[in-house]
Amino acid sequence: MRILVTGGAGYIGSITTRRLLDAGHDVIVVDSLIRGHREAVDQRASFVQGEVGDPAVLGRILPGCDAVMHLAGLIEVVESQSDPGRYFDANVAQPARMLDVMVAHEVSNIVFSSTAAVYGEPSTVPITEEAPTHPVSVYGATKLMFERLLDWYGAAHELRSIRLRYFNVAGALPDATLGEAHDPETHIIPRLLQVLAGGDSRFEVFGEDYPTSDGTCVRDYLHVCDLAEAHLLALEHLGRGGEGGVFNLGNGRGFSNLEVVRICAQVTGAEVEVVRGPRRPGDPATLVASAEKARRELGWAPAHGDLREIVADAWRWHSR
Ligand SMILES: NC(=O)c1ccc[n+]([C@@H]2O[C@H](COP(=O)([O-])OP(=O)(O)OC[C@H]3O[C@@H](n4cnc5c(N)ncnc54)[C@H](O)[C@@H]3O)[C@@H](O)[C@H]2O)c1
Repeated sequence: MRILVTGGAGYIGSITTRRLLDAGHDVIVVDSLIRGHREAVDQRASFVQGEVGDPAVLGRILPGCDAVMHLAGLIEVVESQSDPGRYFDANVAQPARMLDVMVAHEVSNIVFSSTAAVYGEPSTVPITEEAPTHPVSVYGATKLMFERLLDWYGAAHELRSIRLRYFNVAGALPDATLGEAHDPETHIIPRLLQVLAGGDSRFEVFGEDYPTSDGTCVRDYLHVCDLAEAHLLALEHLGRGGEGGVFNLGNGRGFSNLEVVRICAQVTGAEVEVVRGPRRPGDPATLVASAEKARRELGWAPAHGDLREIVADAWRWHSR
């Protein structure tokens, strides 16, 4: 298949692009490079620098594509709280224009990178796809708006979509050729590993009064390679005429921030001095996935569920 990957110069997009190419698909990447890295795009893929909301760019590259993998967007929860308009534009308005170009050129399959942030503060854990969606951040709300838009476009046009709701993604390719290089970095594992790689040992953990076992946030960590595999399976599922819908992706096991710090210290052999800071706005207490539906319907079987392995791969990448 010929696949347009939006945001393919970013962390997850570059690794997903590599997986699609290895599986024999043709890939065109479109990325504005506002947060991505040109050198992260595999040389076997075509690359176009541009915005997903630019109909002229998309009108040039979409014809002939069989599907879109839409990963482009802005991803920082705290930034989204202070700049909601920018997040609405990047995560809703621009991709809505892309959907119009898809409809015009009869490209009818799309896999979308959604997020556990659409659930907000869940009432039951692990979280299934039927759980109510009450995002507590602008970021989560914009991702949910685009999910809804996919429903509405699906009802009005020949458009079939899979929305992958990722929980916390971490890790890198085991050969350390691609990994997480966000700037700013706000995710706990890469932030901590950056601090340790820089020779520092003090690390701030946000919030110590959450209703969890040790008072810090609990998250479900997913290896980026398992996530790339899920994209491939979702694409093949749509390609076979399978039904679209929402799929949670996680390992079903929660780790508190303090447990994550302990595991990072063990893997790296470094001492970490934890500094307890205030909560960050928009962070729910506990997010743990039930990914039974993805296992059942997509045949997804994560192969790197051990958090130590996830951290070890990320550490190899950061130490380079
Ligand atoms: N990283 C996570 O833990 C996580 C968790 C849940 C969901 N997601 C979703 O996965 C997707 C990818 O996340 P990531 O961690 O790889 O982020 P990233 O910032 O590394 O990648 C996003 C890419 O999109 C590009 N981009 C942004 N706006 C654009 C636009 N208007 N037009 C074209 N390109 C644009 C950026 O330059 C960047 O390369 C995002 O949609 C994010 O919401 C990520």
